[in-house]
Amino acid sequence: MMPDRCDVVVIGAGAAGMMAAARAGQRGRATVLLDHAPEPGRKILISGGGRCNFTHLDASAERFLSENRHFARSALAGYTPRDFLALVERHRIAWHEKTPGQLFCDNSARDIVAMLQAECDAAGVACHWPVSVSVVTVEHGRGTRFRVVTDRGAMACASVVLATGGLAIPKLGATDFALRTARQFGLGIVETAPALVPLTDANADASLAGVSLSARASIGKIGFADGLVFTHRGLSGPAILQISSYWRQDDIMLDLLPGRDAFAALREARSARPRAQAASVLHGLVPARLAAKLAGELALPDVTAGNLPDRVLRVIAQRLSAFVYRPGGTEGYAKAEVMRGGIDTRDLDQKTLEARNVPGLFCVGEAVDVTGWLGGYNFQWAWASGHAAGMAA
Ligand code: FDA
Repeated sequence: MMPDRCDVVVIGAGAAGMMAAARAGQRGRATVLLDHAPEPGRKILISGGGRCNFTHLDASAERFLSENRHFARSALAGYTPRDFLALVERHRIAWHEKTPGQLFCDNSARDIVAMLQAECDAAGVACHWPVSVSVVTVEHGRGTRFRVVTDRGAMACASVVLATGGLAIPKLGATDFALRTARQFGLGIVETAPALVPLTDANADASLAGVSLSARASIGKIGFADGLVFTHRGLSGPAILQISSYWRQDDIMLDLLPGRDAFAALREARSARPRAQAASVLHGLVPARLAAKLAGELALPDVTAGNLPDRVLRVIAQRLSAFVYRPGGTEGYAKAEVMRGGIDTRDLDQKTLEARNVPGLFCVGEAVDVTGWLGGYNFQWAWASGHAAGMAA
């Protein structure tokens, strides 16, 4: 049975909501945690290929996108990757560092959900799911400010934590509840869009699907060197997912030989196999299927590699290291790892995540206009913002 009144109602039992509820409960606040899904932490369960990349040790504010670049600093400093790691170790969860700073569970993302559930249980949090929340209204009374209306009855409470996440992966239960409720209370919304998402283009060549290589994708000064994968509809892979968060119809510069001088590499290839056909200068530099495609596109002259003039090598080098890619769109929320934009940070207190003009209303996690890079940053923001709100709600 759900109580008809409590101190704190946390709506959304994902990463941020479970952390917020555990913290509020630990402070002795009578806390109720609700979710409309049949189980908590569904995105945690599928994250990091089932092993949950639960944090990144270098979670500085520069690795997050927001209209207010400085907003996340306070919460991130109040609960650091080391704090979360200490919790993971206290629960004896085995973990490993994949690339520098990027931490994953050794066994299963289930360990993280079980840990958060254990924290909530130990703190006396009343967990209820599946519960559908229809609306939050204002109800001023003794010790109460809000009324949370659900399909299992209504609850009066002093604080509400909106932790229902963003719009990515609707089939896992993502909704616009946090955005809608924030708007209802007069908070601003920064325009939302799919982020960490594959890009599409009308000219995608399906015959290249599956070809992968290291590349650098950049827009202006921001760039990411990492894996790139051709898909049936465009491009994906970590370098593309990262740059997609910054993409707003701009051209993307692709360097398919990151960190190498393409012209020098082509000259070397020409010297190594002067009698081979011209296209062979590309072999070994990029995967064979892509090399064949580029050779066709560039209409290389019908001469041996040794007879290719520097002028032609420069054209090939340009194509390899400074290709202007113009996506037509993205694969959308169905394939996005996160949503960018969200509840406007100007309307929130950076230390507590409480709405400036609505005392008792807290907004955390992905619903807020703070979006991390790929690599464990989004969970770190969820833990840190959940912690901040849970300590104040
Ligand atoms: P989250 O989405 O986790 O939780 C929101 C909760 O609210 C859900 O339980 C949902 O059911 C509930 N809810 C929604 N609407 C509701 C309503 N109307 N009423 C009641 N409940 C409602 N990040 C990272 O750092 N490392 C990683 O490895 C990955 N991997 C990854 C893989 C994939 C496939 C995806 C889609 C995403 C990731 N992420 C990630 C991103 C990460 O999962 C995401 O940023 C966090 O889960 C956000 O946490 P929140 O708690 O804000 O939302």
